[in-house]
Amino acid sequence: MTEISDATILQALDEASNQVLRNLPNFTYRCQNHSSVNNFYPACDNTQWTCGFWPGEICLAYEHTGSPALLHASYVLAESFLDRIVRRREVDHHDMGFLYTPSCVSLYHLDGSKRARTAALLAADQLMTRFQKKGSFLQAWGNMHDQKNHRFIIDCLMNLPLLYWASDQTGDERYREIALSHTRTCLHYSFRPDGSTYHTFFMDAQTGRPLRGETVQGYRFDSAWTRGQTWALYGLALSYRYTGDAICIEQFRQSAAYFLARLPADLIPYWDLIFTEGDEPRDSSSASIAACAFLEMAQHLPEQEAGYYRSWAKALMQNLFSFYRVTDPVCSNGLVLHGTYSKRSPFNSCTPEGVDECVSWGDYFYMEALTRLKGGWVSYW
Ligand code: GLY
Repeated sequence: MTEISDATILQALDEASNQVLRNLPNFTYRCQNHSSVNNFYPACDNTQWTCGFWPGEICLAYEHTGSPALLHASYVLAESFLDRIVRRREVDHHDMGFLYTPSCVSLYHLDGSKRARTAALLAADQLMTRFQKKGSFLQAWGNMHDQKNHRFIIDCLMNLPLLYWASDQTGDERYREIALSHTRTCLHYSFRPDGSTYHTFFMDAQTGRPLRGETVQGYRFDSAWTRGQTWALYGLALSYRYTGDAICIEQFRQSAAYFLARLPADLIPYWDLIFTEGDEPRDSSSASIAACAFLEMAQHLPEQEAGYYRSWAKALMQNLFSFYRVTDPVCSNGLVLHGTYSKRSPFNSCTPEGVDECVSWGDYFYMEALTRLKGGWVSYW
């Protein structure tokens, strides 16, 4: 395994920041689509669950370069996020953390924007409305009275830092209590004995009892969708940061081992961990998310074990940099190639989108992992 060097980390951040700066004219007054088409992101309205990642890249590029153009774009986009939550445009789902942490908590943290803070607090309030008492979880999608939607998904662990942040900001412990309730439920049901994860888990709407695990974006109900596994890893690391609960570390160890044992030779995983070789599409975004997870958890572990996960993070980032990054802006307006948003299989129900393309969270977490490795970063999560 080759670990990324300090010089390469700086080179990668320079390149990524320059690409973000080049993209500002297209994506300041509009958002970046969830995934590229032939490696070029179209613009979109601020209506997708993914729109927070591009402003997150802008904030990270601002931290790296100090460019006033980036700060200006952050403010413009934060207004769009305030407008979205005030008007309640496409916010009836659980992805308030993915949307508002990298776009607005970040800007409040970097420059004290009160309007960004207001937007993020409203988003936390919205996320609270997704709590289902019957089963004790935050419902992912759809109508809150519909049994067919009475389920949570593994990704939601990444939405919880917004609730912890809201408690810290307001002194209102209810946000934290809901986050803890969801975490307990997720830890209980989303993880299989071998450390792999269910993408989605249904609870009984009448009794709140557990029903079954399924998938939407993974290959099969009994396989592990790769990105879900890495949302779990990063979510566990962040949950440990906020709760100090040792069970998060235990589960992290087991689930990280499952993930690492299924990486192909170049370390960049296939879109589902059932595949370990062959020509199925990769999901490069999962490698960046895992690197962030390892670097976060390393901060909470004894030095020897921390070194093990840091070493894996550096190896993942070296290979992303060497073999997957965009090297020529003529070929792509993204940062990292070969991500997979949703791949259809004979056993899943997803709409195929963004297969073997750049994906906006892949670009964001690539930059976040590099920023973490550069050192001195204060987390937005
Ligand atoms: N949260 C949905 C995804 O990762 O595709």
